[in-house]
Amino acid sequence: MAQMRAFQSAREKGAEIPEVVCFEKQSDWGGLWNYSWRTGLDEYGDPVHGSMYRYLWSNGPKECLEFADYTFEQHFGRPIASYPPRAVLFDYIKGRVEKAGVKDWVRFGTAVRMVRYQKDRKMFEVTVHDRPNDRMYTEEFDHVVVATGHFSTPNVPEFKGFATFNGRILHAHDFRDAREFTNKDVLIIGRSYSAEDIGSQCWKYGAKSITSSYRSKPMGFHFPDNWEEKPLLTEVDGNTAKFKDGTTKHIDAIILCTGYLHHYPFLEDDLRLRSENRLWPLNLWKGVVWETNPQLFYIGAQDQFYTFNMFDAQAWFARDVMMGRVSLPSADAMREDSLSWRKREESLETDEDMIVFQGENVKELINTTDYPPFDVDGVNRTFLEWEHHKHENIMGYRNLGFKSLMTGTLAPAHHTPWAEALDDSLESYLQTVREAAE
Ligand SMILES: Cc1cc2nc3c(=O)[nH]c(=O)nc-3n(C[C@H](O)[C@H](O)[C@H](O)COP(=O)(O)OP(=O)(O)OC[C@H]3O[C@@H](n4cnc5c(N)ncnc54)[C@H](O)[C@@H]3O)c2cc1C
Ligand SMILES: NC(=O)c1ccc[n+]([C@@H]2O[C@H](COP(=O)([O-])OP(=O)(O)OC[C@H]3O[C@@H](n4cnc5c(N)ncnc54)[C@H](OP(=O)(O)O)[C@@H]3O)[C@@H](O)[C@H]2O)c1
Repeated sequence: MAQMRAFQSAREKGAEIPEVVCFEKQSDWGGLWNYSWRTGLDEYGDPVHGSMYRYLWSNGPKECLEFADYTFEQHFGRPIASYPPRAVLFDYIKGRVEKAGVKDWVRFGTAVRMVRYQKDRKMFEVTVHDRPNDRMYTEEFDHVVVATGHFSTPNVPEFKGFATFNGRILHAHDFRDAREFTNKDVLIIGRSYSAEDIGSQCWKYGAKSITSSYRSKPMGFHFPDNWEEKPLLTEVDGNTAKFKDGTTKHIDAIILCTGYLHHYPFLEDDLRLRSENRLWPLNLWKGVVWETNPQLFYIGAQDQFYTFNMFDAQAWFARDVMMGRVSLPSADAMREDSLSWRKREESLETDEDMIVFQGENVKELINTTDYPPFDVDGVNRTFLEWEHHKHENIMGYRNLGFKSLMTGTLAPAHHTPWAEALDDSLESYLQTVREAAE
């Protein structure tokens, strides 16, 4: 969506833009924000893309992801609180591209099956599957932008005793509704955002207890009394979980919040990014351009503090490379530049270091293009305050608000504290305090 908006914005300013085709395997746009109740395979037998669940609220302040060219106030007509639920963010990201009028660039229900580079013609052959009509066809393109996300294909470790566990085992990718775990003793494996948020959802919707089990280090938040952190699970025996420190606990369900794989089965070997989830995957100049074939681009391939406005910065940059507005250095120079970013990435120690690092990349990209400049240092500061709020009150941080870095407006408080707000619909969220009280 960012890439289409980038091209449309250039056209709006009078530039001649190339023909743009977007293949989207789902029936609507919005990626993960387009919620699906399905798990496993979709209606056509392909893996379900969605990893989001009911009652998901933004885990970072909306002020950190706000588009510089389309503010929340512009979309909703008034200021709204800082941590919108999924449906509200979905509405926001759709709003911008609906206004841009680019929906007819998208071929929905169309999965990309294979991308091959034809060296002699310097073109990509893209084979797609029009799933509703069950028709495969191939078209040629000068450039390909991979924007398929990397939080969809689950990383699923196995622990001893899983095969005979007397309860449900699922990965975060297949988690949909916390109410399934009301009155249950839930074991969460992992210590990152999914572990923290899915555990919090289960707590909010009445799980009897949460046990989160970490591999590297505990999350270290002040969790409620019925939530304890334990070192890594060693095995399960019936309904008993055993941990590295020798302790045991009764559990009814296990949710593997163990992250995702970069998975691009539709790209031939030398076009395929191979990486774990990290801030600086290699082979991408400026985090965007495929160094060994700069006709190929990746958007959003990094681990993410920054999201929507970073995807914009990347998309504007990719557009300008494609349109010849940014000239490419030699392959060696690109490689050298990427390696220097990687070296810096490897030296980062704190979340603060990581946020500033990602912000630097965003700054560099927006300074190169005509994306509206915004206060990246201000976004960094907002992230740091957010981290601080989480450590003060993990179940209460979403009740606080921030100033927009785009408009300067302070977000109003939401009408209901997050822990009590069980209805996550757009309608409920947009009610004013007065309406909610009535
Ligand atoms: C559970 C969860 C919660 C999150 N919450 C937040 C949050 O609160 N705030 C935040 O800023 N970020 C959040 N994120 C981060 C998230 O990565 C981004 O917000 C954003 O959705 C990434 O956008 P994307 O376009 O890169 O990928 P996606 O949103 O994953 O979209 C990729 C699109 O590519 C399509 N696609 C995939 N393969 C093919 C194919 N072969 N052919 C055609 N189409 C294909 C998919 O159908 C999908 O529409 C969350 C992520 C997860 C997993
Ligand atoms: N409400 C929300 O907005 C929300 C909710 C959920 C997720 N998200 C987003 O989703 C994205 C992905 O987050 P994520 O937490 O799913 O993935 P992630 O950040 O990549 O974290 C993966 C976790 O899995 C653990 N892990 C991996 N293999 C393991 C193993 N074999 N045994 C034990 N632990 C293992 C890692 O442990 P170590 O760290 O110890 O190595 C890490 O804690 C993020 O962008 C996040 O912001 C947002």
